[in-house]
Amino acid sequence: MRVLGVSYSKPNQEVRMKIRVAALSVAGAFALSSFAASAAIDDKKAQEIMTKAGCAACHHVDKKLVGPAYKEVAKKHKGKKDAAAVLAKKIRDGGAGAYGQIPMPPNPPARLSDTDLKAMVEWVLSK
Ligand code: HEC
Repeated sequence: MRVLGVSYSKPNQEVRMKIRVAALSVAGAFALSSFAASAAIDDKKAQEIMTKAGCAACHHVDKKLVGPAYKEVAKKHKGKKDAAAVLAKKIRDGGAGAYGQIPMPPNPPARLSDTDLKAMVEWVLSK
C-alpha cells in the first residue's frame, strides 16, 4: 500500500511593508515679538545706540552737555499723550528752541534706524 502523501506546501509569502511615517513636528510657532510693540531696551543697549549714533557726544542721562540731560527731557515730556511722537520727530529732524538756542542736528536713518529711534524715545521717557 502506498500512501501518497501529497504534501502541498505553499510558501506563505508575507510581504511586510514597513511604512514609516515620519511625523514632522514643525515647531513653527516662532514667538516673534512684534516690532510694533514696545521694544524696551536696557541702559547698556541704550548706551550702545547713543555711541553708535553719536548722541553721546551731546547727551548724558543726568548731566546737561550740549543737549539737555535725558532726565530733564523725560521730566518735560512725561505724561503727555503725544510725547513719543514729538520726541521721535525732534530727534529725526533736529531743531532748537525747547531748551535753548543751540540746535540739535538731524539724525537720519543711516545713523539711527527706526527701531533704534523708537527704542531710544521710550528709554529717554523712562528716565
Ligand atoms: C550735536 C549735539 C547733539 C547730538 C549729536 C544729538 N543731540 Fe539731541 N539735542 C541736542 C540739543 C542742543 C537739544 C536741545 C534742542 C532744543 O533746545 O530744542 C537736543 C534735544 C534732544 C531731545 C529733547 C527734544 C525735546 O524737544 O524735548 C532728545 C530726546 C534728544 N535730543 C535725543 C537725541 C538722540 C537720541 C540723539 C542721537 C541719535 C541726539 N539727541 C543727538 C543736541 C544733540
